[in-house]
Amino acid sequence: MKSSRVLGTGSYLPSRVMTNADLELIVDTTATWILERTGIEKRHLVSDGETCCDLAEAAARRALEAAGIQASDLDLILVATTTPDQFFPSTACLLQQRLGVRGCAAFDLQAVCAGFVYALDVADKFIRTGAAKHALVVGSETFSRILDWTDRTTCVLFGDGAGAVVLGASDEPGILSTHLHADGSYKDLLQVPGGIGNGRQQDAFVEMKGNEVFRIAVNTLGRIVEETLEANGLSQSDIDWLVPHQANIRIIQATARKLDLPMERVVVTVAEHGNTSSASIPLAFDQAVRDGRIQRGQMVLMEAFGGGFTWGSALIRY
Ligand code: ACO
Repeated sequence: MKSSRVLGTGSYLPSRVMTNADLELIVDTTATWILERTGIEKRHLVSDGETCCDLAEAAARRALEAAGIQASDLDLILVATTTPDQFFPSTACLLQQRLGVRGCAAFDLQAVCAGFVYALDVADKFIRTGAAKHALVVGSETFSRILDWTDRTTCVLFGDGAGAVVLGASDEPGILSTHLHADGSYKDLLQVPGGIGNGRQQDAFVEMKGNEVFRIAVNTLGRIVEETLEANGLSQSDIDWLVPHQANIRIIQATARKLDLPMERVVVTVAEHGNTSSASIPLAFDQAVRDGRIQRGQMVLMEAFGGGFTWGSALIRY
């Protein structure tokens, strides 16, 4: 059976930047509180009229270029997002049209901050079963559109952006294993309650009990890291790079401690990007590939935790 391998990566951040000092003017907070509790210094935000698909397209074009393939070579386009441009068509279909191709399968996947790892798992399975030779996997979010900008407990945490990878069928192992989980019993800790189905369109803003989410995230990520190593018969020392979901530097440090991994081996973008939900892992991955930190042949562990709750990991031989 074929394996799937990362052929290329790409990412994109909108040009508008909001610093912690800017936030001091909007809500009752301080730059120091935000930095000390989260590690975030600034975040990029979309401008009026800029959408999830705009970010996805820019990241996707860069990933296709890095992979050295054309959009017409794609058999699958998968977009992980919680903030699609519209209810339908899916952002993946909108993206397909922007890329100027027709016919290949295209759909969105929603698993909030774990969305990229979920999408990577699905694309990997398409390739392993022979249903696709080339897959474009994008995480793209405009979380700024679902934030209550009067709620200091949430609006300081998130940013907008997109990241993408192109996967290709390969005889050499690339994606070694993926591990997905969910527990739908924690809705009250992290949600956007508004929706069409429940008639609460006006409540389309993130609500979070941050410290309870924090505690569960740290424990759960510790477990998923152990599960991934065990499933592959590996130990901590086999991991070259941890590319974690970027929600909070303290959560990232806790997972690195669990892996006994020095922070120099952890790709951290939370200071510059904030939490970009499903975009955070491919954004961080692309940054570390492009600046030469992550090299071909190295072992990369991705892990994420988010609303649902959903959580998961992917172990990759890059
Ligand atoms: N500025 C100043 N004070 C604030 C702010 C702010 N922006 N936000 C909250 N506070 C106050 C609170 O009101 C509270 O005050 P009180 O003690 O007088 O009641 C105090 O700071 C402490 O609040 P906590 O919530 O206990 O602070 P904590 O240290 O837990 O940090 C944080 C909060 C940063 C949100 C943290 O809990 C966290 O990162 N949680 C996890 C977030 C996460 O990982 N989410 C999952 C992914 S997101 C997704 O899937 C969509």
